[in-house]
Amino acid sequence: MKKMADELPIIAIMGGTGNQGYGLALRWAKAGYKIFLGSRDQKKAILSAEKINELVSPVFPVIGSDNGEAADLSNIAILAVPASAQVSVADEIRDKIKGKILIDVTVPLVPPKILRVQLPQNGSVVARLQGHLGDEIQVVSAFQNIAAHHLQDIDHEIDCDVLVCGNKKYAREEAIKLVTAAGMRGWHAGPIENSAAAEAMTSLLLYINRHYSLDGAGIRISGKKA
Ligand SMILES: NC(=O)c1ccc[n+]([C@@H]2O[C@H](COP(=O)([O-])OP(=O)(O)OC[C@H]3O[C@@H](n4cnc5c(N)ncnc54)[C@H](OP(=O)(O)O)[C@@H]3O)[C@@H](O)[C@H]2O)c1
Repeated sequence: MKKMADELPIIAIMGGTGNQGYGLALRWAKAGYKIFLGSRDQKKAILSAEKINELVSPVFPVIGSDNGEAADLSNIAILAVPASAQVSVADEIRDKIKGKILIDVTVPLVPPKILRVQLPQNGSVVARLQGHLGDEIQVVSAFQNIAAHHLQDIDHEIDCDVLVCGNKKYAREEAIKLVTAAGMRGWHAGPIENSAAAEAMTSLLLYINRHYSLDGAGIRISGKKA
């Protein structure tokens, strides 16, 4: 049975004014989720929220907020800021998301060579964030391989699966529900360290896009139940 909107978790998106966060907000608002769009500047978030409300006329209008308030009022927080700001923004909201799930979309691209995998020495930046925040916050990695412009094209079917990594099954399951709500297929892809594969995959997909002049190379998991 379809869940009533009131039972759906409240989502906060840190960096919700940016390319990836805005795209996710559009899709979840359309699917009936209550969204707080977070920003360092509440006025900027209000403008982005108004744009979404005009575009998709959601049952629950998206609310523009600062990152701290958005995190506080949410059940699930999304981290969608540049890799360089990943840890500082997570630290700013840390006290507001204790006991909650934090879905991190960060890819550690290092311009200008973004077609080359350049993970930090110890691997995944999302796993590193889980280590930094400790077990009181369940960090889940997702959406690294989904291009923002595809998310923002809301009626367009995205030809890419989503790898979902995290140490707790319940947290990955909540993230997979959000993947489904945004119109994609999500896969339990193991513990948080496995996020390194999704983070690295982005550069491969960008390379394939460039080499074959594609707009949105993606991955699909194949296989039949044994
Ligand atoms: N773009 C994609 O196609 C894509 C695909 C997969 C994954 N990702 C990942 O998603 C994340 C966001 O990417 P994006 O393209 O959406 O980035 P973006 O548009 O450049 O930035 C997102 C938001 O982050 C906030 N921000 C920027 N600099 C900041 C700083 N120094 N400190 C705190 N907040 C800052 C800004 O919001 P306010 O100014 O409102 O605070 C901005 O709107 C990245 O980690 C990226 O690797 C992106």
